[in-house]
Formats: sequence, C-alpha cells, structure tokens
Amino acid sequence: MTKSLLDIASTSETLQERLNRLHDRLLETIPQIDRIGCAIYDPSSDLLKTFINSTRKGVPISGYEYNLADSKSLSNLALSRGQRVIDDIEKSLQPTNKHSAWVLEQGYKSSFTVPMYDQGSFIGFLFYDSVKVAAFTPEVQRDIVLFSNIINMTLVREFSIIRSINATVHMACDFANLRDFETGAHLERMGKNARIIAKHISGKHKLSDEFIEHVYLFAPLHDIGKIGIPDTVLLKPGALDEDERKIMQTHVSKGVEMVKKILHDFNLENSSDSAIMRNIVAYHHECMDGSGYPYHLKGDEIPIEARIITVADILDALVSQRPYKKKWTMDEAITELQRMAAIGKLDPDCVEAVEKNISEISAVMEECQD
Ligand SMILES: [Fe+2]
Ligand SMILES: [Fe+2]
Repeated sequence: MTKSLLDIASTSETLQERLNRLHDRLLETIPQIDRIGCAIYDPSSDLLKTFINSTRKGVPISGYEYNLADSKSLSNLALSRGQRVIDDIEKSLQPTNKHSAWVLEQGYKSSFTVPMYDQGSFIGFLFYDSVKVAAFTPEVQRDIVLFSNIINMTLVREFSIIRSINATVHMACDFANLRDFETGAHLERMGKNARIIAKHISGKHKLSDEFIEHVYLFAPLHDIGKIGIPDTVLLKPGALDEDERKIMQTHVSKGVEMVKKILHDFNLENSSDSAIMRNIVAYHHECMDGSGYPYHLKGDEIPIEARIITVADILDALVSQRPYKKKWTMDEAITELQRMAAIGKLDPDCVEAVEKNISEISAVMEECQD
C-alpha cells in the first residue's frame, strides 16, 4: 500500500528513507527523474553540504561541501527564490568543481534545482537530475515544485525540533550554573570536531551525511546530565575525591533520564534519529576495553557516535586550561590520544581522524575559544 504524501511528512523514518519513498512516488508519474539530491546550507560558514539523496541512475555523491559564494548561479538562485532548469547539461555546465564534474560523469543530461527556505531564510537546495535531455517540461516542473514543498516542510520541522531541544537544554544549563563549568564554546567545539571526526571515518564506518549532521547537532548534549549534579561537586575547583567522582559519574544516567523526557515531550520517542542522541548521552564515557562507565561496554558494543564523542571530548579536555591542569599543545594531546588508542581505550579510527585533520581541528579550537 502506498502511503499518502502527508504520511511522508510525518513518519518516524529517517529523512533519507522518506526521500527514497517520495522518489518512488514521483517515479510513478514522472519516470525520468533519476536522482534527487538534497544539500543543506550553513550560513555561519557559507557552506553548502550534501545531506541526503535518492540516486537511481549514477553513483551517489556524499561527504561533499563547498562555499555557496563560489557558485554564482546557485547564489543567485538562492536569492531569487525561483527555480533553475538546465535542459542540456553537457552544453551549459563546465566541470569547474567536484560537483559539476560528478554531474557530467554520471551522464545526467538535464536538471531542475529548487531552493528551500525556512521563514524566508535560505536553507538548501533540492537537485533533480535526469539522463534525458530536457526532461523538465513546465508541467513536470509544476509537479516537482509541489513535491519540493513537502520535503522543504519536513526538513524545516526536523531542524526546528532540534533547535528547540538545544534551546531548552541551553536554558536548563543556565539555570543549573552549568555554564560556569562547561562553556558554550566547549559545546560548539564538540559539535564541530565531532563532525570532522565523523566525516573522516564515514567511508570505513559507512556513515551517511544525514547521520553525520545529527552527530554534529546532538554532540553538544553529551553532558546534559550534569544539570543534575550538585554545585559543590560540579564547580569544585580541585580534583574530586572518590565519593565526589561517583556522584559526578551519575551524570550519565541522569542524562539518559533527561533525554527520555525530552524525546517524550517533543513526541520523538519513535524517531530513528533520536537513537543518535540517546547513544551519545548514554555511552560517551565507555572505553573500548570495557573499562569505562557506567555500562562497561566493549569495542563494537559502543555505538560509533559515542566513540566519536569520547575522542572529541577527551581531546577538548586535554587542550583546555582547567583549574587543576595546564593546557596541552595539540601535538601533546594527539600523542596522548594515540597512547590511549594503543592500550585499547579509544577507537583508533577516531583518533586517526583527529591526527589527520589537525589543521581543521586547530582552526575550530582557535575560532571557538572559551
Ligand atoms: Fe560526560
Ligand atoms: Fe564535555
């Protein structure tokens, strides 16, 4: 049984699964659409990033990003709020960047591009491609614009829920004095560095752009349970004693409880992306050799999103100044992460990702200072 369009906008499937299903529906009436790609725009970095795609002919492209300003035609399209039709790609597109070169390589002959907006702000593009020349007649365009509105609406809703969750958590952190302990800059660095690590290991661990984006968005919530830790422990300037450390460690179980409540309040218990949020909070203190807490999971039992957060969090602690420790250099920190990977504590792929992206990570540290 085919689902109605409204079902597509309101299901617990991932956005990727929803796009696939939407594509199936489109193919029933417009069989010449061979690919739908969705790229999202981050205004703070001017980056346009591949996000989800449904590719029926050709090899999918993922993990790709470029500055919107570098494409005059796309920048203008975002501003104009119109659509762009290319009837003969081979005649009008030059392989000036990886994306154009890829489009030509796949043998796509025509394309239709629709910008997406959230309350007037540009949030990304939908790219429709066909191996047929001039596949996008005015009639086809009209249908696609309708479909695009549904995808646009679905994305806006998804991201606004995540924004509300983050805003709720920020407010709770303010009330709980948590900001004195974990700064906003730390949370920002966590998101960005987790994304860098996730991207680096995406090939080996088969991580989709959608997964990586959710790791980026949920990383700042990892220590949400610290809201429930008393100030005497949380804000203690010196090292913690045994009892205090035990109290501090309860931030994981407290965090899991909070996530459960948030997912319930936002009606997201069945959303597949919420597992990423839950896993990050529950397992970010587990170690690969089972010596972490509180569940003592080992190796692959620890979800990859949590292994990424663990490495990003330890790195951040090492290179940060704390009342009880000096600030390590990036090289010293990487040596320590490598040591911890070698003795079986940290995921070696995640540590390698830090080592291989040292300049990008250093730039994040520089840009988001406490
Ligand atoms: Fe933690
Ligand atoms: Fe942290």
